[in-house]
Amino acid sequence: MQFDIVTIFPRMVEGLLAEGILARSVERELVRVRTHDLRDFTTDRHRVVDDAPFGGGPGMVLKPEPFFRAMEYIRETFGVPDAVLLPTPAGTRFTHREARRLSGLGHVVVLCGRYEGVDERVCEALATEEISIGDYVLSGGELPALVVLDAVARLLPGALGDEQSAEQDSFVRGVLDCPHYTRPAAFRGLAVPDVLVSGHHAAIARWRTREALRRTLDRRPDLLATATLDEGERAILDDLVKKRGGAGEAPAAGRRSTSDERD
Ligand code: 6GU
Repeated sequence: MQFDIVTIFPRMVEGLLAEGILARSVERELVRVRTHDLRDFTTDRHRVVDDAPFGGGPGMVLKPEPFFRAMEYIRETFGVPDAVLLPTPAGTRFTHREARRLSGLGHVVVLCGRYEGVDERVCEALATEEISIGDYVLSGGELPALVVLDAVARLLPGALGDEQSAEQDSFVRGVLDCPHYTRPAAFRGLAVPDVLVSGHHAAIARWRTREALRRTLDRRPDLLATATLDEGERAILDDLVKKRGGAGEAPAAGRRSTSDERD
């Protein structure tokens, strides 16, 4: 899979590509990432990429010409991409489902905006989709581009080791992950739940399912509306809701309670 990222801060993107699963995926050639400096597609001596907004107002708007020239270069050199993403807080929400869809494409371009925005003609004529990664405002599209890249690249076959399975990911099933522990079993007075060191595999599996459902009910009850639960999970969830008194009630604000306090 190929990514082309157009940005005025190519080094910001390249830094993230140097470490972790993303770096490994690049090394293994599961994904190829090219960065393009938007300023390389300007034609003036000062390499100016922005200008004042028509109609007045604060801030600057990224000019259309460098983006159009960058897209022409990418199309001519690497072919017509399957998707051209434009990160913006005004976009549709980027979700795990979207990550999975993009992971099935061969060539994706991301056009990173900055400052107050990007000339709307870039959105209209070049972007195939505008995406937002959440309800907050970032100063540019570079972090969202990296978020998309990371979420997509780890879904490519061979990106994760055997120990991890993308199928088990929280947002695939609509249930948050259960808590994890490792050695030491006792640490500064903080114990690991007994069941995890009991050696009873069925009991451990039940505990994990229960804690995952408890967390989801606590923190993201919205996910449960569309989660795919088997019969056993459904029974555990019903039990958790019953013990809490009142189905589907929003959990009380404040510190999250532990299993000891709750059951
Ligand atoms: Cl995609 N861009 C910017 N600038 N801010 C954001 C965002 C994107 N998603 C959430 N906030």
